[in-house]
Amino acid sequence: MAKDLWISDLQSGDMVEQEISIQGWVKRSRSSGKIIFLSLRDSTGSIQCVAKKDTLDEQKFADLKSALIESSLVITGTVKEDQRSGGNEISVSDVEIIGAVNPEAPFPITESAMAAADGGETEFLLDNRHLYLRTSRMTTMLKIRSSVFGAIHSYFRGLDFIEYQAPCFVAGAVEGGSTLFEVPYFGRKAYLTQSWQLYAEAAMPALERLYTIAPSFRAEKSRTRRHLTEFWHAEMEIAWAGNDDVMAHGEALVRHICATLLEERSAELESLGRDLEMIKRFAENPFPRIRYDEAVERLQALGVDIEWGDDLDYSKEKILTADFDLPHFLTHYPKVAKPFYHRPDPEDDKYVLCHDLLAPEGYGEIIGGGERTWSEQEILERIDEEGTSREAYEFYIDVRRYGGVPHGGFGLGVDRVIAWLAGAEHIREVIPFPRDSRRVTP
Ligand code: 4AD
Ligand code: MG
Repeated sequence: MAKDLWISDLQSGDMVEQEISIQGWVKRSRSSGKIIFLSLRDSTGSIQCVAKKDTLDEQKFADLKSALIESSLVITGTVKEDQRSGGNEISVSDVEIIGAVNPEAPFPITESAMAAADGGETEFLLDNRHLYLRTSRMTTMLKIRSSVFGAIHSYFRGLDFIEYQAPCFVAGAVEGGSTLFEVPYFGRKAYLTQSWQLYAEAAMPALERLYTIAPSFRAEKSRTRRHLTEFWHAEMEIAWAGNDDVMAHGEALVRHICATLLEERSAELESLGRDLEMIKRFAENPFPRIRYDEAVERLQALGVDIEWGDDLDYSKEKILTADFDLPHFLTHYPKVAKPFYHRPDPEDDKYVLCHDLLAPEGYGEIIGGGERTWSEQEILERIDEEGTSREAYEFYIDVRRYGGVPHGGFGLGVDRVIAWLAGAEHIREVIPFPRDSRRVTP
């Protein structure tokens, strides 16, 4: 039963006139009385199969004719050149139905349901997500997703970073209390982690260069095009480094992801209507850097209602990045707009040494990072300034009592990067089972 031939293999010229057996699922099928045209799909693509009544056993012909969409089959036949499409097709000599579909409950993801969703998604498609995964659009997204994960691992491992894991149950916030998920924990309260960062900083003196790809959790009540409650977070931490060093890694990582996609997934990107030249531009050019103050001035000049000290939410990033032709770094946010761990700028402590990387075309923030406050005294001041209790951060403070060094890191929202590079309208389109404030099923 093991599969050793894939539909994509059948498209080569060498396969013509070969006798083959291939496993797959019915994508669509039509028949006149004497001939069946069936499109068979597998994970690699689809191929037309032609079965003729006069060359196939009568019962087999009837079985194939009644095989509904998403029935699984093994088809045996001869590969033929298809004159009209320029590709190959299979002339069927035998068929075995493996998993039939009940005619009373046909596959619900029909072409009309897909057309109604128009590239986006409806509640109906989300309710049937477990089946929607098989559509060519979702399969394409999942392949791009896999290449992005692979690119992140290869970037960090190529530079001798150590992959390191932190707990998901934690005692305190990293990114502010308003998006913490509380979980009952044997009579106490615990939270789901918002970021690996604080635990990575504890291992920084041991490993010096470390990274992870793991889920992070945010109780985001508002449902937007770029927020999930559970998202995949690629984070790195590096010792003996400042804000510019960390930014250089963020830029190199994003460019490496773009280059990897061009190498591995050009066909998939084109099928989604993405401009490969644009992605090549992202892969090959340095990313501009502007300070927060300049971004606020640009927005104010566009008539946007924003005051110095406000964080840039999605609506503002969307306006700012609409005309960008490359990702841009925004640096030096006001201290009041960022969490306690950011290091105040020694040149002007109204600001912190941080950066966000904003993707073009209105996609906005894909990376948040910066230099960390690394002396005991400075971190105590920052925690007290924020009015948070020191208790949950005792281990974090303790790390700074024994040979603190300048260090920093960033977090990259993997789903956001995929949504941007795939040109998805909504972050939900690029993750198999999206989680938001209204949905934990299927
Ligand atoms: O900017 P954030 O909140 O930064 C941190 O969590 C830092 N502790 C990371 C670090 O320095 N190690 O989150 C980092 C990135 C964002 O830029 C965004 O891309 C993504 O995580 N992100 C989300 N993605 C999807 N859904 C959400 N609700 C997200 N929240 C953040
Ligand atoms: Mg951020």
